[in-house]
Amino acid sequence: MMVVAATRSVPEECIRLEDTKAGLDGFIVIHSTARGPAAGGCRFWTYDAPEAALADAMRLAEGMSYKNASAELPLGGGKAVIRRPAGAFDRKALFEAFGEAVDRLGGRYVTAEDVGTMIADMEAIALHTRHVAGRTARPGFAGGDPSPWTALGVFEAMKAAARVRFGTSLAGSTVAVQGVGSVGGRLARLLADEGARLVLADIDTARAEALAAELGGQVASIAEIAGVDCDVFAPCALGGALDAATVAGLKAGLVCGAANNQLATPEMAEALTARAILYAPDYVVNAGGIINVAAEYLGESEDEVRGRVLAIGPRTASILEMAAAEGLTTSAVADREAEGKMRSPVAA
Ligand code: NAI
Repeated sequence: MMVVAATRSVPEECIRLEDTKAGLDGFIVIHSTARGPAAGGCRFWTYDAPEAALADAMRLAEGMSYKNASAELPLGGGKAVIRRPAGAFDRKALFEAFGEAVDRLGGRYVTAEDVGTMIADMEAIALHTRHVAGRTARPGFAGGDPSPWTALGVFEAMKAAARVRFGTSLAGSTVAVQGVGSVGGRLARLLADEGARLVLADIDTARAEALAAELGGQVASIAEIAGVDCDVFAPCALGGALDAATVAGLKAGLVCGAANNQLATPEMAEALTARAILYAPDYVVNAGGIINVAAEYLGESEDEVRGRVLAIGPRTASILEMAAAEGLTTSAVADREAEGKMRSPVAA
């Protein structure tokens, strides 16, 4: 099979998932186990061909290695991608078959939710393996909805980055939030408590309007939000928010938000730097979610989760400062630091 994947490195292992009876068709990619079990969610999506599913799994698995290493979790990176069957299918049987495949790897890969999968799928997987997180929350244990932790991590990163970029706190500054869903909505609340002025936008205009009314902010259209007069732009909707036209129109001096894969192309890192816009790398600042999911698997307490999430602030500041001192993009420094952590053993 010819596979062309835009990855920087070769994964340790690619496992073909094929169970015609259960309708299972996809891949598990173990990119790296250098820091621990390869952890990353299971995407359930429509792909025209197996090659496309494999390329996506390879790209996403590599991204997980960087995100997990950056967050200093004792985990490597991996991902599963399952092709959604075209016709009718037995969802529970499909995810049970996937659980058996995960179990056969003996803990080298740990799965969780991703685009297209939900808690019920994780419960089906858990009938066959213990190497799964993102299950129903149990009182007294880490786990459950990761969004509040993601929002807290982005908030801590934004405070630290504002100190680096403007030398001030966020109080009195204006933050434009693109997408006020699970993470963006919580981030807006934290920012309001901090005394920031808010401009909010969402495809669901009623949602943006209700939150703006509650928090005393303004609303912008989804076409305008990236170009509004503000200090900080926080992409919290979909990936690829920062393309050439958007970067050219930004008035913010800092970009810091929750969305995955914010740079539409890698060159956008230089384009932002050229306009003196400081970019807080997405996978560094939005690691709160994976930290919470990992804690569920690793048996960590909520205090340990909080400690790891609060560390995102100083980590972000240090990456931004190194980039300025060395004349590199913040993305390049984040990648280099993560690669260093992938090579170094995990401290007990
Ligand atoms: P969500 O689906 O709850 O919220 C996304 C919001 O963006 C929705 O309110 C939606 O209506 C809005 N939206 C969609 N397209 C838009 C557009 N073009 N302009 C403005 N608003 C738009 O998703 P969630 O969980 O809040 O995640 C947001 C981003 O953060 C995603 O990119 C996700 O991959 C990323 N992320 C989320 C984590 C989590 O813990 N939930 C963890 C790490 C990353």
